[in-house]
Amino acid sequence: MKIVVIGGSGLVGSRVVARLAEHGHEAIAASPNSGVNTVIGQGLAEVLAGAQVVVDVSNSPSLEDEAALEFFTTSTRNLLAAEQPAGVGHHLALSVVGTERLQGSGYLRAKLAQEKLIKESAIPYSIVHATQFFEFFKSIADAATGGATVRLSPALIQPIAADAVADAVARTAVGEPINGTIEIAGPEQFGLDELVRKGLRFRGDPRQVVADPEARYYGARLEERVLLPGADARILDPRFDDWLVQTAPPT
Ligand SMILES: NC(=O)c1ccc[n+]([C@@H]2O[C@H](COP(=O)([O-])OP(=O)(O)OC[C@H]3O[C@@H](n4cnc5c(N)ncnc54)[C@H](OP(=O)(O)O)[C@@H]3O)[C@@H](O)[C@H]2O)c1
Repeated sequence: MKIVVIGGSGLVGSRVVARLAEHGHEAIAASPNSGVNTVIGQGLAEVLAGAQVVVDVSNSPSLEDEAALEFFTTSTRNLLAAEQPAGVGHHLALSVVGTERLQGSGYLRAKLAQEKLIKESAIPYSIVHATQFFEFFKSIADAATGGATVRLSPALIQPIAADAVADAVARTAVGEPINGTIEIAGPEQFGLDELVRKGLRFRGDPRQVVADPEARYYGARLEERVLLPGADARILDPRFDDWLVQTAPPT
């Protein structure tokens, strides 16, 4: 199959392209780096010609509220409009577990707007909701740092490795569109503060992580279980400790 991966140069996108290619598909990485810009529509008609599936794992260059909303709505509108004449039969997008519950976050309002456009379009679709990526723990820490202290909510999360996300996205992309949402998550739950503390300690980062139920996560106050997936989520290895060792073995 010809499968166009929008955001195919990114953390998840590059892994999705590799997996699809390993399975014999014509996987095209499309992003501004390769001349495809979904915000201005550049290169879209050309790259979508003959494609059966579009996987959208792009991300907004700015996570600020208005910029993210503008990115996800404009990009998704342009993409869906270009998919119709190209005869694309499956649009897959990656989004975040709990998006609909976390509307205090401007970023997640933008992701919900993206999902709404997909559901309202005539193109058959699949939405994959993933929990937070392991790879993201340092960015979460950086966004919550003041001086030498990181203030984070102790709300529970069940994070997942980007490799596991890419496996699930690639599998879903080559299947029939589900016209619905599936959830994927890692095998363990942590307090958000606990996860970041573990990661920073392992990497030798001296910052102190303090649990603070009032600390905001991308603008939203977190209830204890709001970031957790539902009972039907697919649970995918590895565990966080094993991933830490694999990605940064102690010297
Ligand atoms: N981080 C998490 O914990 C988490 C959890 C669940 C779901 N997600 C979702 O996962 C998705 C992918 O995240 P990621 O961390 O893999 O992203 P990433 O590494 O930041 O990559 C972003 C990609 O988007 C591309 N892009 C940026 N502007 C574009 C444009 N105008 N047109 C086309 N492509 C554009 C970039 O292309 P260039 O390289 O050419 O700039 C890059 O390939 C996001 O939608 C996010 O909401 C994230």
